[in-house]
Amino acid sequence: MKIAVLCSGNGTNLQAIIDSVKSGYIPGEIALVVSDNNDAHALIRAKEAGIETIVLAAKDYKSREDYDKEIVKRLRKKDVALVALAGYMRILSPYFIREYKDRIINVHPALLPSFKGSHGIRDALESGSKVTGVTVHFVNEKLDDGPIILQKPVDIKDNDTEETLLDRIHKEEHKIYPEAIKLFALGKLRIDGRRVSVR
Ligand code: GAR
Repeated sequence: MKIAVLCSGNGTNLQAIIDSVKSGYIPGEIALVVSDNNDAHALIRAKEAGIETIVLAAKDYKSREDYDKEIVKRLRKKDVALVALAGYMRILSPYFIREYKDRIINVHPALLPSFKGSHGIRDALESGSKVTGVTVHFVNEKLDDGPIILQKPVDIKDNDTEETLLDRIHKEEHKIYPEAIKLFALGKLRIDGRRVSVR
């Protein structure tokens, strides 16, 4: 199964996916890494692993849909079957989501539906919650809303800072994101409305 990973930043989740493909845990191949950010460290990780990368600058496209049309064109050329968002900070257009319906997944640093958005860790800390976590979910047309595949709770400690909590959240992300991709690749995920069952 061919996978495309879309990233904007450091790419630790990309690295976890690369390592899981290399070890044979994920039965698949990363065909392409796409970024909207030329400075993303994720691009270096991809190059070191010998994976093709493309960077598309938003300013070169008239609209979100035009931008996404270019990505979809590249994904089709590579025969990509699964799109994994890994710290990809752009919102996908309805066009992209339609074209890859039920084949786009995302990792989010909170237990959805709590703490949606791009500051999931900070928002959980500021809320005074005692528990947050990690969610891997299918992507639909609403932000951080699609059917949930896997979740893992992470305790919030009294002395946690954003950095210490991020660290523990990342450890869980790096386990359950590859696990969800593996389940998808093995055809074990069934979506039934908002619920996803693992066969
Ligand atoms: C991850 O923690 C991921 O959950 C988060 O961005 C980080 C990317 O880290 N995604 C979101 O907040 C999406 N709403 P990485 O670049 O090291 O994988």
